[in-house]
Amino acid sequence: MSILRNFAVLEGCDGSGTTTQLTLLSRRFARGGLLPDGKFYATAEPTKGPVGKLIRHVLRGGDSLAPETIARLFAADRAEHLYGSGGIVRRCAILGELVVSDRYSLSSLVYQAVDCGEELPRILNELFPLPELLIYLDIDTETAIRRIAGRPERELFEYREFQEKARDNYKKLLPVWEKNGVTVAILDGARFPEDIAEEVWSAVKEMPILKGTV
Ligand code: TYD
Repeated sequence: MSILRNFAVLEGCDGSGTTTQLTLLSRRFARGGLLPDGKFYATAEPTKGPVGKLIRHVLRGGDSLAPETIARLFAADRAEHLYGSGGIVRRCAILGELVVSDRYSLSSLVYQAVDCGEELPRILNELFPLPELLIYLDIDTETAIRRIAGRPERELFEYREFQEKARDNYKKLLPVWEKNGVTVAILDGARFPEDIAEEVWSAVKEMPILKGTV
């Protein structure tokens, strides 16, 4: 599996704060001076595209699909995210943008493995490039469940037993990704968002695209 330069991802269990951290990172870039205008792009999976919308509908309990079908939907959404119009690969490799995604293929390897086993998610994702940097926000399941409980809507995977298994899967797969050449930063996601944001920035600013500019 090849590494896609200029591509970073945030990962973690539900409630770990990946979305908050991407917002804080985006604000840092929006203040200017770090990269030329338009060279930072924040994105997320499931995407806002047609397949991502279908996934959200399923996650909210709108329709019930087999776990194997859901695994394929996440992979189809990812393919479009990477190779579709305005896709990540063109942004990183041709336009020289820094792209940071809230979740990527490790989410599939971790979450879909809970219901489908390891093989199907592995096969569905093995041709996708790896990110240059992976930032994992680690939180204990108790904290995760407490945070999830405060949200207005509960989604398909947001319950204790599932999140415990997901966390175990992350712990198992992080060293494998590191061995495959991905820079892995493991951060304590239970701290204050602003403190975590500083650590996220410490990891991001080491990416070659930012070396020499900050
Ligand atoms: P996310 O948008 O991060 O959660 P939230 O709605 O709380 O902001 O992701 C939605 C859910 O989808 C979350 O439970 C993680 C799960 N997911 C997978 O199971 N597989 C995947 O490949 C991805 C990207 C997400």
